[in-house]
Amino acid sequence: MKIGIIGTGGIAKTAHIPQYIAAGADVVAVMNRTRERGEAVAKQFGIERVYETVEEMLAEETLDAVSICTPNALHKQQVIAALEAGCHVLCEKPPAISAYEANEMLEAARRAERTLHYGFHYRHRSDTQLLKRMIEAGELGHIYAATALALRRRGIPGWGVFTNKELQGGGALLDIGVHMLDLALYLMDYPKPVDVVGHVGQYLGTRPGVGLMGDWDADAFSVEDTARAMVTFDNGASLFLDASFMANVDAADTMRVELRGTNGGASLFPLVIHTEEHGALFDKTPAHLALEDPYARQIHTFLEACRQEPSYQQAEQAVTLHTIIDRIYAQA
Ligand SMILES: NC(=O)c1ccc[n+]([C@@H]2O[C@H](COP(=O)([O-])OP(=O)(O)OC[C@H]3O[C@@H](n4cnc5c(N)ncnc54)[C@H](O)[C@@H]3O)[C@@H](O)[C@H]2O)c1
Repeated sequence: MKIGIIGTGGIAKTAHIPQYIAAGADVVAVMNRTRERGEAVAKQFGIERVYETVEEMLAEETLDAVSICTPNALHKQQVIAALEAGCHVLCEKPPAISAYEANEMLEAARRAERTLHYGFHYRHRSDTQLLKRMIEAGELGHIYAATALALRRRGIPGWGVFTNKELQGGGALLDIGVHMLDLALYLMDYPKPVDVVGHVGQYLGTRPGVGLMGDWDADAFSVEDTARAMVTFDNGASLFLDASFMANVDAADTMRVELRGTNGGASLFPLVIHTEEHGALFDKTPAHLALEDPYARQIHTFLEACRQEPSYQQAEQAVTLHTIIDRIYAQA
């Protein structure tokens, strides 16, 4: 498989490129708008060619697949360009910045008959996959309630454009809330949302303070630091979401999903199954679980999918995900 990388920043260097190489794929080209940074990454990984525009790379190369690792507001146009050039696409999260964009990306994948996957690596954790298998085997029964938490005490990223509304489309909700929202929906088999009550706000990000993920420019902070929502679904289930870049809470970083089913409940992370059996209440944890790097598994799953019939399920789910997110932002 010949692979091209669009955007050679943090996630491309630490996850996509090394995992493609580890999987035996051939990363032949990178594109970065700053040539020197593209060249430095190409040199680091022994990649032959560097481009400054997506158009140039797609015209010059014959690629099987492309990873999109750029700021969120660029995903849609780059994904569609890559699909139209005949490539399968793995695009980083969040898929887009609106349901309208996510739908255009889905339609482009269908037209091109190419697979479109998104970088929700929490899905690929070994504990998530174990829980998914248990849910599919009926261990939890009907999941009627979920909680998705993505809370950082002082965790505004001090690099990149994470605080720029124009380039990222949003803050805590689109950057970290989206991970746990997607994970809960994935485990619930993506039920159809019927109602969303949401709230987003800027409370702490616009004033300087302690930065556990580097220093950020409080004057240029144009995204929400807090997002909270309640979603109800057509199968009778409900989900509560709480996401924050900065919150006065005890833990530095909480990424957590809780599920309540009619036969049992589950908490991630770590994985605990809560049941009632033989007149007693149990909390069950795996005594042994082979751990796999979720980014490795994500790349492996994507490469496998590229060899099969095109799959649109993740692209369809992205439209549902962004429909919920749009409705939360609409109530800001
Ligand atoms: N799966 C995860 O947990 C995870 C973690 C980090 C980042 N991400 C996602 O990956 C994407 C990139 O994040 P990152 O941390 O690598 O950011 P980064 O800032 O380190 O890298 C972004 C790259 O995009 C390029 N870029 C910036 N503006 C551009 C423009 N206008 N045109 C073309 N290229 C441009 C930059 O040169 C850089 O190479 C984002 O969508 C982010 O949400 C996902």
